[in-house]
Amino acid sequence: MVNLKEFQQRRSQLLNRMGEGIAIIPTAPEALRNRDSHYAYRFDSYFYYLTRFTEPESVLVLIAGSEPKSILFCRDKDKEREIWDGFRYGPDGALKEFGFDEAYSISQLDELAPKLLSNQAKLFYSLGADARWDARIAGWLNAVRDLVRTGVSAPSEVTDIRRLVDVMRLVKSPYEQDVMRRSAKIAAAAHNRAMKFTKPNKKEYEIEAEFLHEFYRNGAQSPAYTSIVAGGANACTLHYNANNCTLNEGDLLLVDAGCELDGYASDITRTFPVNGKFSAAQRDLYELVLNAQLAAIDVAKSGNPWNTPHEAALDVLIQGFIDFKLCKGSKDEVLESGSYRQFYMHRTGHWLGLDVHDAGEYKDRAGNWVLLEAGNTLTVEPGCYVRPSENVPEHFWNIGIRIEDDVLITTAGNEVLTKNAVKTVTDIEAMMAE
Ligand code: GLY
Ligand code: MN
Ligand code: MN
Repeated sequence: MVNLKEFQQRRSQLLNRMGEGIAIIPTAPEALRNRDSHYAYRFDSYFYYLTRFTEPESVLVLIAGSEPKSILFCRDKDKEREIWDGFRYGPDGALKEFGFDEAYSISQLDELAPKLLSNQAKLFYSLGADARWDARIAGWLNAVRDLVRTGVSAPSEVTDIRRLVDVMRLVKSPYEQDVMRRSAKIAAAAHNRAMKFTKPNKKEYEIEAEFLHEFYRNGAQSPAYTSIVAGGANACTLHYNANNCTLNEGDLLLVDAGCELDGYASDITRTFPVNGKFSAAQRDLYELVLNAQLAAIDVAKSGNPWNTPHEAALDVLIQGFIDFKLCKGSKDEVLESGSYRQFYMHRTGHWLGLDVHDAGEYKDRAGNWVLLEAGNTLTVEPGCYVRPSENVPEHFWNIGIRIEDDVLITTAGNEVLTKNAVKTVTDIEAMMAE
């Protein structure tokens, strides 16, 4: 059950954080895909976080101060359009169902906005996020400025509303944790399913189809991002998503795929052998990456700086790169020179939530890594990508491995939300033999 009170509380909390002024938070525009066909609609994450309202053409206005209020502008009910496109709440329905203080037709926005902006000291808005909205709001501000001789004043300060909301979004409520746990569970089941379906000579897109099947049949509304299904050398292209090659006997398959459930992303990567059995070289590098990931998860704890898991993963990876003759020198030298970046060129994770690369700062204004705290959700995703190169033993060429889990920081330590997706060599080989 969705607790609407929680969304009202978020608006109240934001109104308090604003102190005074007006916030304007539009949802995302609909986007044309080709000719008159649209992309599947996805609301704006900030707007959704504060409203739970999923219809396009909606704007949330918050007025802070002694009489705080939240106002929704949304599409009117429209019998004709609803026959074609489906149900709309309309302002009255939205007011009743979503707990706003006032609701108006979106068609009244241009008329009412200058009035709402009048005599507000501050405007909170995500300037630069959408040029069309920037221009529209500039027009309203100019309309208010035109009234200056009648004694009306326009806001003199514009603050990015995202900074205020990001702090709130970083700490997931029990409700959000529950949705993320369910999103993670669906994605984990999809990875296990994919392992069972993977065989030499299948196409990458056949495996992608198994993910979509498992996502949708479990109620996820969409993939959280374009799935990466990368056999063999394709895994060394970090954002590979053509997903159209044949899976070859003897290669690994790297799949980075997660779903979106009620707005919340899961983000999992698993790497497994196409034929169900790791070769010695594949197993060596796989276990290295797995050990790096386990070391990183181990220090993903409340009070540790954001970078601690990355440092823990690097420590394990660099030692392994030296042992396997991928890097030369001492651990300190490899770290200092950055030569490890030939094989590990990305960071070990990111915040996760409504956006797959979720809102939230990684460093504070003084330049220090933020400290992890209970309720944070992040990915832990070390990897190792070996392109053919003279300085690399040939048996490692074209091996690309990443292991990615979603982690919730708790007061006791952490919870790996994606733990159902198997990841030890023994468990993967057993899963694939089923
Ligand atoms: N799937 C996107 C990422 O892992 O960051
Ligand atoms: Mn990720
Ligand atoms: Mn990923």
